[in-house]
Amino acid sequence: MKIGILTGGGDCPGLNAAIRAIVRTAIGIGEIEIIGIRNGWKGLVDEEAIPLDRESVGGLLVRGGTILGSTPSKIFQKDIEVEKLCEGYHKLGLEGLIIIGGDSTLGVAAKMSRKGLNIIGIPKTIDNDIAGTERTIGFNTAVTVACQAIDRVHTTAESHHRVMIVEVMGRNAGWIAVMAGIAGGADLILIPEKPFDMQEVTDIIKKRHRIRNFTIVVVAEGAHEMGAGAKYTGEKDVFGYDILGGVANMLKKEISERMGYDTRSIVLGHTQRGGTPTVEDRVLATRFGIRAMQLINEGSFGVMVGLRGDEIVSVEIDRAVKNRRVDDYWYEIAGIFF
Ligand code: F6P
Repeated sequence: MKIGILTGGGDCPGLNAAIRAIVRTAIGIGEIEIIGIRNGWKGLVDEEAIPLDRESVGGLLVRGGTILGSTPSKIFQKDIEVEKLCEGYHKLGLEGLIIIGGDSTLGVAAKMSRKGLNIIGIPKTIDNDIAGTERTIGFNTAVTVACQAIDRVHTTAESHHRVMIVEVMGRNAGWIAVMAGIAGGADLILIPEKPFDMQEVTDIIKKRHRIRNFTIVVVAEGAHEMGAGAKYTGEKDVFGYDILGGVANMLKKEISERMGYDTRSIVLGHTQRGGTPTVEDRVLATRFGIRAMQLINEGSFGVMVGLRGDEIVSVEIDRAVKNRRVDDYWYEIAGIFF
């Protein structure tokens, strides 16, 4: 049996751990040839692949990024591109393809699955916003990096009686902001799911300053004021989508002008996606990789592996295309400390 592995969309820590687990599980099962598709969807169209064996996946647990390379998935969503991907699958002689990606990549995977190809999805994204799983590969590392940054800005905030605003990633979901904010003791957390009112923001900061004389605000890059969109950069990417971010700078300006407080903004950006994965991400990626290979061996396709409670489950890949956003429960927990 010849099986391919493909990583699509933005990189994140834990992708290599998943690749390693797939290959090692396949070796254990036996009679399975594994190839890695180079540079995501582009490699499938160009039929660019490398053999993956025990040696080539050695030492991968600790390595961030993806040894296979990746390309964005948005341009491959059109039907004509999906046709090309299906052709590549057949030309490479694949009998199954494990696709590790976020919502866009898994959306393309679902289309290929509907065309009758043997597809298994593995959810990865630091944003943790994929339906059908409570955790995605990369999220825990991103939250850990964000929390460490929040811990570090506390000392300057306290020493200089400042308002420190930490902007984290997450696209249109506030998972990184909420979890890192709770863990880091943020005094205010702003997320896309709960558009904010500037007056309320300044009221919370004023109240906080009366007690401790410094404030830590954690803001998700997709957060925005009520009635406004998250368009603070005013820039679009090469595919015409809004580039998020800039909200921390906007808040810094507003807070210092309206309140006269010494305020600073810090944008964590891609540091949240880089470097070695945390223990939790290594273990999750390993479990996802093992289960994906087992599903192939059982002849079960058209599904994505996911985490529910502490169990690895498999869900229809179509369900993965939907976004999972922060619910009221988490925001209420965070709000107790505002
Ligand atoms: O989806 C992961 C993510 O890191 C988002 O949190 C962020 O908005 C985006 O990707 C950044 O993408 P790029 O690497 O293309 O700037």
